Amino acid sequence: MKQYGICIAGGGSTYTPGIVWMLLEQREHFPIRKIALYDNDGERQEKLGKACEILVRERYPEVEFFYTTDPEKAYTDVDFVMAHIRVGKYAMRELDEKIPLKHNVVGQETCGPGGIAYGMRSIGGMLENIDYMMKYSPRAWMLNYSNPASIVAEAVRRLRPQARVINICDMPIGLEDRMAKMIGLKSRKEMTVTYHGLNHFGWWTSIRDRQGKDLMPAIKEKMAVNGFIVDENEYLYDNRMSWRSTHYSGKKLLEIEPDCISNTYLQYYLYPDEVVAHSDKHYTRANEVMDGREKTVFTECARIVEQGTSQGCRLEIGNHALFIVDLARAIAYNTGERMLLIVENQGSIRNFQPDAMVEIPCIVGSEGAEPLALGEISTFHKGLMEQQVAVEKMTVDAWIEGSYQKLWQAITLSKTVPSASVAKAILDDLIEANRQFWPELK
Ligand code: NAD
Ligand code: G6P
Ligand code: MN
Repeated sequence: MKQYGICIAGGGSTYTPGIVWMLLEQREHFPIRKIALYDNDGERQEKLGKACEILVRERYPEVEFFYTTDPEKAYTDVDFVMAHIRVGKYAMRELDEKIPLKHNVVGQETCGPGGIAYGMRSIGGMLENIDYMMKYSPRAWMLNYSNPASIVAEAVRRLRPQARVINICDMPIGLEDRMAKMIGLKSRKEMTVTYHGLNHFGWWTSIRDRQGKDLMPAIKEKMAVNGFIVDENEYLYDNRMSWRSTHYSGKKLLEIEPDCISNTYLQYYLYPDEVVAHSDKHYTRANEVMDGREKTVFTECARIVEQGTSQGCRLEIGNHALFIVDLARAIAYNTGERMLLIVENQGSIRNFQPDAMVEIPCIVGSEGAEPLALGEISTFHKGLMEQQVAVEKMTVDAWIEGSYQKLWQAITLSKTVPSASVAKAILDDLIEANRQFWPELK
């Protein structure tokens, strides 16, 4: 069996130890020969790198492991790049959330003006990493989690059309896991789903079990009571309280769209006033993450390093890591697994523009993703998606052209923003905060 070489770009990410651990766990299904971590912040990466080194040594010692800030070293001789960079790190995420909120607009990592601001930072960092891959391992595939995935995907489609990049999101599988639990299934993998939309902007239209039985009625019945909440206790761990209201929003989204099951990200577009009313302008999700997941992961890694062993390690390993490893395996072994991926529409949704990056079911094999044909979508979904895809395309236009006007229009077009004047006030604050990261706008 061939053994694969992996580069993890954004080696200092809070998700890196989980992915490394998953790669070690999956050795029977997906044998590897090398893991290289790459980050442009060597100090941050080293803290996780030292712990991962111990994990690898204890669980899969044949694997070559190193961490580096040298792109040539990291990207040479790899088959897959698993990317999860955050340009500007949590300090900038905090501003993406707090600046719009100051203007009474949704403050969110990937949606609305915050997501647009993040997109304007991510495009450059992603192109840089894609170029390293194309230079040092031109046959490799990049499996990309870096957000905002929809804007990144559109930028890559336009600016690096030849690159072998597949953009992915863990939100559908996370919510599917919840739906499976609600109705007593062991795993989301027992369900076959049909889903359409944009990234962080989509709907399940069909969910069936292995025998073809429709599971949607039973799931909706549960969701009508508690949305996607399945266990009240889980939010107490790791500062996750804001996830409770996100999961609860599934109930409200079912009221406006009873025919489908909506991705909770639609709450920011369909109930923005309520989201803003329930937000704390001084303590947002970025603060929760810095006090929660980031602290937990770095503390746990420091403990592993100090003790010199990963025994008794409390790091989380779950769906997020499994999905990206499953995707690599599907390409490596041509498995034909059905997965939701972000791909160019090209007729899959018949009544939607062909050059939009959409999130839909695909069959995955050695040539990458083969999208399924889904037919037509409803006028409600189409109207919402057309507005949102225009926001994403105009953000990429603004980045390429360095255009203030286009970015102002993009923010104005977001359904989360009430007017052009509010959009302008937010934009001016965002420009100030992002000087170090955005192209200069004229
Ligand atoms: P994090 O801040 O902990 O880690 C990101 C790392 O990227 C940092 O160590 C940073 O130094 C590094 N980085 C920044 N710019 C870089 C560049 N140009 N080259 C190399 N490295 C660079 O962030 P996190 O919370 O662990 O999340 C990581 C990324 O994954 C984010 O973009 C997040 O939005 C994304 N994410 C996506 C999904 C999804 O569904 N698509 C799910 C979870 C996380
Ligand atoms: C989900 C989404 C990701 C997003 C993450 C934020 O997993 O699919 O795209 O980055 O949520 O989670 P956090 O815990 O960082 O707020
Ligand atoms: Mn996502």
